[in-house]
Amino acid sequence: MKPELITLHINGRTHPLALAPNVTLLQALRDLGYVDVKCGCEQGDCGACAVLLDGVAVNSCLVLAHQADGVPIVTAAGLGTAKHPHPLQAAFADSGAIQCGYCTPGFIIAAKALLDANPHPTELEIREAISGNLCRCTGYGQIVGAIQVAAEQMAADEGRRTDDEGGIRHSSFVVRPSGGVR
Ligand code: FES
Ligand code: FES
Repeated sequence: MKPELITLHINGRTHPLALAPNVTLLQALRDLGYVDVKCGCEQGDCGACAVLLDGVAVNSCLVLAHQADGVPIVTAAGLGTAKHPHPLQAAFADSGAIQCGYCTPGFIIAAKALLDANPHPTELEIREAISGNLCRCTGYGQIVGAIQVAAEQMAADEGRRTDDEGGIRHSSFVVRPSGGVR
C-alpha cells in the first residue's frame, strides 16, 4: 500500500510520518522507539500495547496509525520520569507489582484511564478496569494493591492543588474488546 502522510503526537512530541494505511499504531509506536508499548498478542487480548488516545485507554494493536493522526497519544513512559515518576509508576515499583515487567505499561495505562474517570474506585472497579490486561507473573494482587496506593496518593495530591481541572475524557475510540476501560 502506498504511504500517506500523517502526524503522530506522542508524549508531547510531534512525529510527521509517511505510513501505509495498514500500519497499526502499535507498529508505528515501536518503530519510532516507544518500546515501552509492548507487543503481546496483537489481537486485542492481552492489553500489553495499551496507550491513551485522546485520554482513552486503547489497545494500539487494534488501532491503525492513520486513525491516530493528529490525536494526542500518551504511553506509560510518558506519564512521568525516573526523577519524577507518576504515582502509578511509583506505586507499581514500590508495591512489588512488577516481575518481568512486560505487562506493566499496559496495566499502568488502564489504571490511569480508570483513575482519571473514577479517582476513588472500589477493588471490584479496579479489577474490572484491568480485566483486559493479562499478567503471567504477579497473580494480580500486588497490581490491584498498587493501583489502590496510587489512587490514595493522587487523591491527596489533588487535594493540595487549587486547579481541579480533570475528569472523564470522551473519545470515539472503543477498542478494548476483552474488558477494561473502554
Ligand atoms: S498486543 Fe495488543 S492487546 Fe495484546
Ligand atoms: S509482570 Fe510479568 S507478565 Fe506481568
